[in-house]
Amino acid sequence: MKKKKLEMMLQGVENYKNPKASLEQYLTPATIASDILFFAYSLGDIEDKILADFGAGTGIFTIGSCILGARKIFSVEIDPEAIMVLRKNLEEYKCSAEIMNMRVEEFNFKIDTVVQNPPFGAQNRHADLPFLEKAMQVANVIYTIHNANTAEFIEGKIVEMGGEVTHKKFYDFPIPYMYKFHRKEEVKRRVVLYRIVRRRF
Ligand SMILES: C[S@@+](CC[C@H](N)C(=O)[O-])C[C@H]1O[C@@H](n2cnc3c(N)ncnc32)[C@H](O)[C@@H]1O
Repeated sequence: MKKKKLEMMLQGVENYKNPKASLEQYLTPATIASDILFFAYSLGDIEDKILADFGAGTGIFTIGSCILGARKIFSVEIDPEAIMVLRKNLEEYKCSAEIMNMRVEEFNFKIDTVVQNPPFGAQNRHADLPFLEKAMQVANVIYTIHNANTAEFIEGKIVEMGGEVTHKKFYDFPIPYMYKFHRKEEVKRRVVLYRIVRRRF
């Protein structure tokens, strides 16, 4: 599978029907999702692995991981409406995942890899921290996206939690006009993706 092919396939993942600002529901664009997943795949973190997609939304990371041969995927999402779209996407792509309608804070299986695009904390400050904490408790390798403005703070937390950043990648993440408080059609937010390995259990 080529990265471009994965990107084209992920273009078809359906978006939220009724996105909720309080949960920072933005779909990761196929260009970014395919780049992250292909990168993870090339480092051996997806194929045949047990994986969790925290804050799965409508499932772009779940579907991409399924296409790239993950052995099992837990899709953890708080919002039942997003899960309805996620289920439809799974059907369309003939993928299976264990959908868990709950807060990531409640997840308690030991797994190989987490891939997550948590809320950036635009609505609730540091809303991404519980995601990072949980991922560090349950996974050996973590791919996690954060607002680049908070990089120093997040990197400090990663070290405190016993993690080591092995790779970093930057993206301009488009946030489309969706909510009443948005003034422009689309803004780009600079984000950073970390690949983290856990130094100790
Ligand atoms: C920025 S969106 C990312 C969605 C999807 N992973 C993607 O990349 O397109 C964050 C998602 O996390 C969900 N979410 C927010 N807080 C959560 C929590 N505490 N537990 C589980 N899901 C949560 C939101 O409903 C939303 O779907």
